[in-house]
Amino acid sequence: MEKRRIGVLTGGGDCAGLNPAIKWVVKTALDDRLQRTRKIQYEVVGIRDGWKGLVQPEGDKDAPVSRIVTLTEEMVRTWDRYGGTNLGTSRTNPYDPENDCSKAVLKNIEDLRLDYLVAIGGEDTLGVAHKLYGEGVKVVGIPKTIDKDLSGTDYTLGFETAVGVITEEIDRLRTTAGSHRRIFVVETMGRHAGWLALEGGESSGAYIILIPEYDFELERVNELVLEGRRKGMRYDIIVVAEGAKPRGYGEISKEEGVDSFGHKMLGGVGEFLAKKISEATKIETRSITLSHLQRGGAPCAYDRRMGRYFGIAAVDLIVKEDFGKMVSYRNGQITAVPLKEAIAKLNLVNVETMYDTERYNGRRTILRS
Ligand code: F6P
Repeated sequence: MEKRRIGVLTGGGDCAGLNPAIKWVVKTALDDRLQRTRKIQYEVVGIRDGWKGLVQPEGDKDAPVSRIVTLTEEMVRTWDRYGGTNLGTSRTNPYDPENDCSKAVLKNIEDLRLDYLVAIGGEDTLGVAHKLYGEGVKVVGIPKTIDKDLSGTDYTLGFETAVGVITEEIDRLRTTAGSHRRIFVVETMGRHAGWLALEGGESSGAYIILIPEYDFELERVNELVLEGRRKGMRYDIIVVAEGAKPRGYGEISKEEGVDSFGHKMLGGVGEFLAKKISEATKIETRSITLSHLQRGGAPCAYDRRMGRYFGIAAVDLIVKEDFGKMVSYRNGQITAVPLKEAIAKLNLVNVETMYDTERYNGRRTILRS
């Protein structure tokens, strides 16, 4: 029987749903019955630490062990129950203009005899996958990002688990906020896209939701808060995405510098807003940044199932020799789209149809005439 080797890696920020996807790539590729009908015997190797694992497969001074590990069905049997990625991840960009190591990656793919590559990631990781595809690598992608901002798919792994965390944390905040008559500003992730803030805010019934797609007026936020108090509200929950911008201020970021994909480290808009609200309204206002809690914990049932379907579909693409594609979920179907389409532009909230620009909240009309 012909033998072929599949490499699988996870890149970018971790999230829940990665381990289920890895498990199902392995199980589908190694499935005995399927191997007989395909007449190909696959081997799957895990590549640790994202693209770093293909830049330095032998390890480095921080991790002086091989980054290549053979994955067996027995090994990944329980992985779908766990958050994060058991393969590790990194934000290494082999095409970083300041340190281009793409040639080393191509050589290592050859030296490691990797016939195919499954890259699980967001726009950065899949952007690298697309470039490698252009250089002849037989690659397929699986979408993940808690921001849900990739095009070409209605779902990206990690999103629903993160929305669950936001909802749960806000439920906890409500009792303490109400007891003290406080305002709580809850900062979620979401650098360009407001999906987490919007759907997390809708799930938890937040009073105000602020998203990067619509610059907000500080005065309007204050007005809404005071209006609520006049109506008898004891407390308020305001959800703000880290990339949301107060009009006249631009993006708020506490730290200087950018990562190897050129992204700024955002964060701080929640604290900024809480200060502005308490100054203007004289109501005690606290802020909390959910930060990496949104990435943690076991994958919810939906992420386990979607990880499973995406993992299986990625191997289907390999079997069909249909490369340069990302598996995707669209209109209720698991399908595939060219990687080029997935990374061409970000999938943002449609303000006109999904956001109420007066109440700074989710839409109040769904079925339009
Ligand atoms: O890109 C996804 C994301 O969740 C962004 O919303 C956020 O800015 C970023 O990851 C933070 O990632 P890290 O702290 O791991 O660099």
